[in-house]
Amino acid sequence: TEKLTLLYEGKAKNLYLTDDESIVLAQYKDQATALNGKKKDLISGKGALNNQITSLIFRELNRRSVQTHFIEQISKTEQLNTKVDIIPLEVVVRNYTAGSFSKRFDLAEGIKLATPIVEFYYKNDDLDDPFINDAHVKFLEIASDEEIAILKQNALAIDLILTDLFAKIDLKLIDFKLEFGRLPDGTIILADEISPDTSRLWDVDNNHVDKDVYRRDLGDLIPIYQRVLTDLQTEFEGK
Ligand code: C5P
Repeated sequence: TEKLTLLYEGKAKNLYLTDDESIVLAQYKDQATALNGKKKDLISGKGALNNQITSLIFRELNRRSVQTHFIEQISKTEQLNTKVDIIPLEVVVRNYTAGSFSKRFDLAEGIKLATPIVEFYYKNDDLDDPFINDAHVKFLEIASDEEIAILKQNALAIDLILTDLFAKIDLKLIDFKLEFGRLPDGTIILADEISPDTSRLWDVDNNHVDKDVYRRDLGDLIPIYQRVLTDLQTEFEGK
């Protein structure tokens, strides 16, 4: 598969068209952003770590029959994905209070939720990705009722798998963000990435093992992300 023209330049990755019209190439970048792009830094090595972590996790999801866009990792920073039309929603699943949820309800972080909560945010940088409900999703013609139900079901099924996966390396999955896309026939599959950039992971001492280290200036991201990759590789690839 040959890398052709740049299709889309994102904050954390670039997407390229390939000589196969059903396949795109994602190149993970070293740029870190927070506060919707207001905080921005180059963190050398982050792209390679997130590409490898995401690739391993998506491989595990594929193995457990979750339909995803992931085809294969082709280099430290690149992977091939099935081309989809991204649904402009950030689908957030929360198992414990943290981040914007704690702020919104004035709650401490780390309180276990009786049942996981799925939230939708409208992916729109100009609007700062607003929190929206099912009726808004329908009004904006982002997804139908049936599709909204599928998104929620898939998100909760993925939550079970990921919670179990991270528990194997002694990390608690606090919350995470997913993005889904449509194949040409309308089938909804999991897309984008799953990494410490897009999830909150706490170790047994409730230390942050995720992008909050960058957002909150708690230290170096690279050794922390490296630990996640190494432990996942040991657990799932026998490395
Ligand atoms: O900020 P908030 O608490 O709403 O984030 C919930 C989860 O979604 C966190 O794991 C965060 O890393 C992720 N997220 C993301 N991209 C965003 C917003 C949130 O990956 N634009």
